[in-house]
Amino acid sequence: FKKTIYTGTFISTPTLGALEVLENATVGVDEGGVIRFVERDVRGLGGEKGLDSRKHEEKGLKEAVTFSNPDTHIHASQYPNTGLFGNSTLLDWLQKYTFPLEASFSSLSRAQHVYTRVITRTLAHGTTTASYYATLHTPATNLLSTLCFHHGQRAKIGRVCMDHPTFNMSYYRDESAEAAVSATQATIAHCNSIDPERGLVEPIITPRFAPSCTSALLHQLGALAKEYDLPIQTHIAENPDEVKLVGELFPDCTSYTDVYARHGLLTPRTVLGHAIWLSAEEKEVVKAHGAGVSHCPVSNSYISSGLCPVRSYLDLGIKVGLGTDVSGGWSGSMLVAAREALGVSRVLASVEGNKAKDAGEEAEKPKEEVEKEMKLETTDEDKNESNRLKLSVEEALYLATVGGAKCLNLESKIGTFEVGKEFDAQMIVCGDFSLGDEDELGHGGKGKFEVRDDNPVELWGQESWQERMAKWVFCGDDRNVEAVWVRGRKVHER
Ligand code: GUN
Ligand code: FE
Repeated sequence: FKKTIYTGTFISTPTLGALEVLENATVGVDEGGVIRFVERDVRGLGGEKGLDSRKHEEKGLKEAVTFSNPDTHIHASQYPNTGLFGNSTLLDWLQKYTFPLEASFSSLSRAQHVYTRVITRTLAHGTTTASYYATLHTPATNLLSTLCFHHGQRAKIGRVCMDHPTFNMSYYRDESAEAAVSATQATIAHCNSIDPERGLVEPIITPRFAPSCTSALLHQLGALAKEYDLPIQTHIAENPDEVKLVGELFPDCTSYTDVYARHGLLTPRTVLGHAIWLSAEEKEVVKAHGAGVSHCPVSNSYISSGLCPVRSYLDLGIKVGLGTDVSGGWSGSMLVAAREALGVSRVLASVEGNKAKDAGEEAEKPKEEVEKEMKLETTDEDKNESNRLKLSVEEALYLATVGGAKCLNLESKIGTFEVGKEFDAQMIVCGDFSLGDEDELGHGGKGKFEVRDDNPVELWGQESWQERMAKWVFCGDDRNVEAVWVRGRKVHER
């Protein structure tokens, strides 16, 4: 077989909380994009294998090839609204900003323009896979799948279904459950025609969320997912008013989760967006059905939906991935999503820590006990219960890669560098992080990396890969993404 050999430092997170760093490694990829060998530490072997990494080091650069980045929740059609949300919250945001924009995708030329931009920009950020929500327009949705296939982005394509006659606007809704189902079937047929193997592009059953859909539509979409063996994506418990509305619209169901469970929409292939306000019982139901959670921290913070208790899902062994949720989220970058996941987990830790302190004061514990606890808090960060809510950089990177792959049931194909998996990767190039200033990430003047006189190559090695990754997560952006591959095909280059 014809193979390409990649050399360099390969970083991934096969398990939650730990980086795997293969320095001076080579990865052999066959013409089908499948990894055929991984060799650790080939330094000193000379010849072709060591060449690339040496070249970079001579330039004073260091490269790290890291794993695929699946965005488990992104509305391709909302891209033009990125950054526009005012002070709205979910339900008024949908009416004011979102539905009018999505309705404009009746124009195929507009769809072509926006979708091309979304795909090229997310690829430039290193998003190798995206689980897309499109709109309810079938031609535009089908075009999105064709464009993903041609640009080489791995994608799930969701034709958004929404037939509820009162919740949805009259100018933007399905005429009937049957109309939504037959439109979805048309998108399934189109995806099958462009990628029969579902190797890159696959349809995903997409009821917008419970309030947008009649019970009849939810039932039919559940049946469709089963008939065609397809994944499902939707939103759940994003906002307290939304949860209340679902209770009113589905009085026979015991909870929001129960609505999806009863309609055959809670399966091991279901991705639940947000999941901020689920009860303990609902989490057990999600776990029992094997569904995954798409954590969308930027959106949750900025349209002020709430703080997702990610640790509780991880503790239960529920699959968790990250989503940008453009344009509830203001950035299409998965790096920004990872960064916000770290921030939100810390805010949650502070909130819970304060609650615990208040409760402690109310209970009027003996003075010595309170003092002992406070001492514990400041001296032993791991034993402190609220501190445990904080995610580590390695955990955030796991959620952004392997966690997302698991949510999308792609873990046998992507997420780590292992023989038999497909080569989805991004090459990150950074300057000398050890000096600590942002400019060293290569963001200076010309936007390219320069060798500086005061930046001796000997400084390499003073900083661990864990530290470099942390600096990249907090300070990096798409300018650090030198190249991106999906299934062995280079799909972006700076
Ligand atoms: N709930 C229903 N539709 C949407 C949407 O488009 N974005 C978000 N964030 N939540 C939703
Ligand atoms: Fe969303």
